[in-house]
Amino acid sequence: MHIKIHRLFELLLETTSAQPEAVLGFSLAESPKLGDFLADLDPNLSLDWSGKSFNGLPELRQHVLTHANLTDTCHIDDVLITAGTAEANFMSICQLVQPGDEMIVDVPGWPQPLVLGEAIGAQVRPLVRREENAWRFDLDDLARLIRPRTKLIFLCNPNNPTGQIMREDELHEVVRLAERVGAYVLCDEVYAGLEWHGPRVPSVAGLYERGISTGSVSKALGLQGLRTGWLICRDRKVIFDAMVMRENSSEIMNVMGEMIAEIAMRPPRYAAAMHKARADGAQNLQLLDQFIESRRELAWQKPAAGLIGLCRLNAPITSDELGKRLLAAPYRTFSIPGSAYGFPQHIRLGVGGGAAAKLSQGLAQLAKCLDDLRS
Ligand SMILES: Cc1ncc(COP(=O)(O)O)c(C=O)c1O
Repeated sequence: MHIKIHRLFELLLETTSAQPEAVLGFSLAESPKLGDFLADLDPNLSLDWSGKSFNGLPELRQHVLTHANLTDTCHIDDVLITAGTAEANFMSICQLVQPGDEMIVDVPGWPQPLVLGEAIGAQVRPLVRREENAWRFDLDDLARLIRPRTKLIFLCNPNNPTGQIMREDELHEVVRLAERVGAYVLCDEVYAGLEWHGPRVPSVAGLYERGISTGSVSKALGLQGLRTGWLICRDRKVIFDAMVMRENSSEIMNVMGEMIAEIAMRPPRYAAAMHKARADGAQNLQLLDQFIESRRELAWQKPAAGLIGLCRLNAPITSDELGKRLLAAPYRTFSIPGSAYGFPQHIRLGVGGGAAAKLSQGLAQLAKCLDDLRS
């Protein structure tokens, strides 16, 4: 299998050395510091991995189920701790989908399943989310795409990049359709917990035996650098196959990532961190929404969850060109062009990163850049 680079990663590689003064697309909450965890870490902790579980720390797996409201439906052995959502997605896709199989992927959505499906030699069928329908996809479209060779339906819920969410009744319908051909449904739930109105999206692992929920401590908790996430599935073969795949790549989890993630997910600490992430996110989202309202070149469907959204650019310039101009002097502001998702007339805007992202400054620079374009 040879994996080709995707436009989103290309853009990130092109811009990492640019050192922008403000960021308009930050996708995670403000990150805690190592010092925030020192009091709870045991200095005598052995950094030898021996004696640990291949599934991951049992206490951490329990926290994962608790926060996903899955304690009634799933057991801790239905959870595998992984190197982020990315590894959980990777191992699930690579073990479930073989050359010639079909998989369905929501578009716009997280690029990883598109890239991997293509590398595997599977037929990847896009399930289109429509902007005019608040970026929802049509369940009839899904019904038409599902065929006997469909092995996996990959959905990003809440969706990156639109912030759209699927309701429980819609998820039940997805499951009903998948069940007809025995397909797995993988929901990337990395943004779960950051719904702006209403409850947390239901985890598909609780709704369907072949439902796979993936997530991590990266987004709402801002702990992306720990590389700690999970895969939840009641079909133990999925957990076993993922473990076997990992045995042939990185073998085991990193001890520090698991330890710190376990501390971060202890209920009182988790509640406080989520409260802060939600308060900061809601405040910045309001700022961004007001800004978009005030600009005739911009329009969006405000995200229902998560820290990012996809904004339409009504200007005689593509978002790639705008992104380049914006990153250069005098604006020095980073944004992600929608071309990364196959939508060149959109920009991915985000409200994460806390004060360090300098959202107000970035928006002022975007306003200036758009004004300069007009004159
Ligand atoms: C939808 C989605 N899935 C997966 C990832 C990867 O996250 P993690 O750090 O948990 O591997 C991201 C990160 O940007 C994401 O937005």
